[in-house]
Amino acid sequence: MGLHRLLGFTAAVPAPSALTAFYGELGLGGSPTTGFTGSDGGASVLVDEGDFRRLIRVEFGCQGPEDIDAAAARLTDGGAAPVVGDGELRVVDPASRVELVVRVADVAPTPAPASLVVPNAPGATVRADERAPAVFAGPRPPRRLGHLVIGTPALTETRDLLVQGLGLKLSDEIDGVIAFLRCSPDHHNVALVESPVPLLQHYSWECDDVDHVGHSASALLRPDPSRHTWGLGRHFAGSNFYWYLRDPAGSYLELYSDLDQILDDEAWELRGRTPFDFEHVANSWGPDLPLEFIVPPDLDQLQAAWAER
Ligand SMILES: [Fe+2]
Repeated sequence: MGLHRLLGFTAAVPAPSALTAFYGELGLGGSPTTGFTGSDGGASVLVDEGDFRRLIRVEFGCQGPEDIDAAAARLTDGGAAPVVGDGELRVVDPASRVELVVRVADVAPTPAPASLVVPNAPGATVRADERAPAVFAGPRPPRRLGHLVIGTPALTETRDLLVQGLGLKLSDEIDGVIAFLRCSPDHHNVALVESPVPLLQHYSWECDDVDHVGHSASALLRPDPSRHTWGLGRHFAGSNFYWYLRDPAGSYLELYSDLDQILDDEAWELRGRTPFDFEHVANSWGPDLPLEFIVPPDLDQLQAAWAER
C-alpha cells in the first residue's frame, strides 16, 4: 500500500516553445498541456508559461483512497495543511514552494524489456567476427521520465514532508546536502538538494543502456555543444551512468541508464545501502562536478524573481 509511482511534474518557463522544440529534438512525445513522455509513456513533464523558471507541481500515484487519507492524517499530525478533494491530496511545501499531489493511479506501464548485450572483455569474448550492435544504433527517444531533483532552501523540512508526510522512502542521504527518495523500485524518483532558491535542479530520462545515453546525448550536442554540462560518468548513489545537458530554460536534463532497483526494502538496508559519504557525492567516476551544476548561472535572476513574489 501507499505510493507506487511518480506521475510527473509541472514546470513553468518563460519560453515554452523553446523547451518544446528541445524535447522534440530528444524525441519525446506529447505537448506542454498533455505532458511530454518517453517511448514507454509513464511519468510526464507538463510545461506552463511563467515569468521565470520554477517547479510548480510534482504528482505521485497511490494504490487506493485509503492511502490519501493516511497521508493526509500524517501531514496534519506533522503540522502541514493538506487539502483533500476530488480524489486528490494537495499540499504545498513551504520551503521549496512546490505543490505536491497524490492521487490513485494504475500501475506504471510495463516496459518492453531491453535486449541485453554482453560486451567483449579480456578473456571473455562473447562476440567474434562482427561489430558491436551499439555502433549501428542511433539516437532515439528515452524510455521514460525516472526522477527529478528539487532544490530547496530547507532540505530537512522538505525531506520530512515527503518522507514522514507523503510516505516516500529514503534510499540514500548525506545529511544537509542531498537526500534520495523513492516511491517505486527506482533508487530515487525524487532527490532533494539544498539550494538558496526553490529550483528544478534536474530531471532525468531513462535510456536502455550507456550506448543509448551516448547516442542520444551526442545527437543533442552536435547542433549545440554548449548544451553539455556534465558527463559521461557513473554516480555512486543509484549506480547509474549519467550525462547532463542544459535545457533551454536553464534546468539540467539527465540521460541515464542502469539505476539501482530496490525490490526488497530490508535487503537494500542490509546489503545495498553501503555508506554513502561526501567522497562519492558527485560520482563514482567521471568528470569533476562543474560549478554551474551547483550554482546555476541564472541564480541572481532567480533570487530577484523569488524576492518579488
Ligand atoms: Fe539524476
